[in-house]
Amino acid sequence: MLDDIKKIHAVDKSNMLAVISSLPSQIDRTKSLVSRLDLPKQNPSSVIVSGMGGSSVGGELIRDWLSDKMHIPIMANRTSGLPRFAGPDTLAIMVSYSGNTHETLACTEHALRRGCRIVGVTSGGRLEKLCRSRDFPCILLPPGMPPRGAIGYLFSSIAYLLQETALVRVEEDMREARGFLEEIQHGWTANVEAKNNEAKKIAKLLEKRTPIIYGHTFYNAVARRWKTQINENAKTLAWNSEIPEMTHNEIEGWARDSRGKKFAAIFLRDRHENNVTRNQVKVAVEMLGKKAKTHEVWAQGTTILSRMLHNMYLGDYVSFYLAVLKGVDPMPVHAIQEVKKKVYSA
Ligand code: PA5
Repeated sequence: MLDDIKKIHAVDKSNMLAVISSLPSQIDRTKSLVSRLDLPKQNPSSVIVSGMGGSSVGGELIRDWLSDKMHIPIMANRTSGLPRFAGPDTLAIMVSYSGNTHETLACTEHALRRGCRIVGVTSGGRLEKLCRSRDFPCILLPPGMPPRGAIGYLFSSIAYLLQETALVRVEEDMREARGFLEEIQHGWTANVEAKNNEAKKIAKLLEKRTPIIYGHTFYNAVARRWKTQINENAKTLAWNSEIPEMTHNEIEGWARDSRGKKFAAIFLRDRHENNVTRNQVKVAVEMLGKKAKTHEVWAQGTTILSRMLHNMYLGDYVSFYLAVLKGVDPMPVHAIQEVKKKVYSA
């Protein structure tokens, strides 16, 4: 099935594959969208990136990548309010691809009341209007994509925004990662046969099992991205979890619960893991392997960013091929739309 290009296109009716493959070019286009803006000049004492679903992943990836490089805290927020510490010294980045997400709009109103320095990231909708009417900078992204497919725009908007406000320098790493993604995606495209295509192989492994993705250090947001991509593209239940936290609780369930055999556990690995992490993952793989199917994904790339994006991008392709195996069109998200309709238009 996965080596039959015609069948792949028959399932992928709205061409999600093209959206996924556009990630490197999205990174190219973003810098100029950010550099033409008039951004807040004074140094903030904290950064909060608010967004939901597909629009939340960019902020979480940035937090995992840059927390260690920035001198001020950066928080990824997936709620409709801001924490008490948010105030005039907070840079509040409000991300909603559609611009119409209830929680993100509520956060923006909250940030306004708190006097935060707001920057919007959106392709339009009410968020754009709000930014314009209150004279806040707004990074305006090209419209017409599924939010999760705009990850290149969303992630690099935040990265370049932090660079433009002089909080961190990302330029070289972004350029290197962009070229690297372009190169590695060739190994995962539809015309590469399953026997040589890691994304197709992992999709087959997940076909009959419930995926659970384990991240650690720089790979926690990446693990979440795998989970959400599998949920939305393949319309499949999946969860993510973290090492070492899982060794303090979940591992008991794995040791005793016979339902463990229904899962496939994917471990996101890095050859530069410290010894403690390496041992924790090794023990977890051994213990889970007694029940679940386990698989280790090894990041490639020279910089932390490249390795994070390598592991993330592979997951995007895996979720796509899993959708094909399940015969579901990856693009539409009817259940999400139904919830929005029922909850917000009530
Ligand atoms: O992927 C999706 O469609 C969702 O997860 C959306 O991203 C989420 O509902 C939030 O919408 P938006 O990204 O437009 O703010």
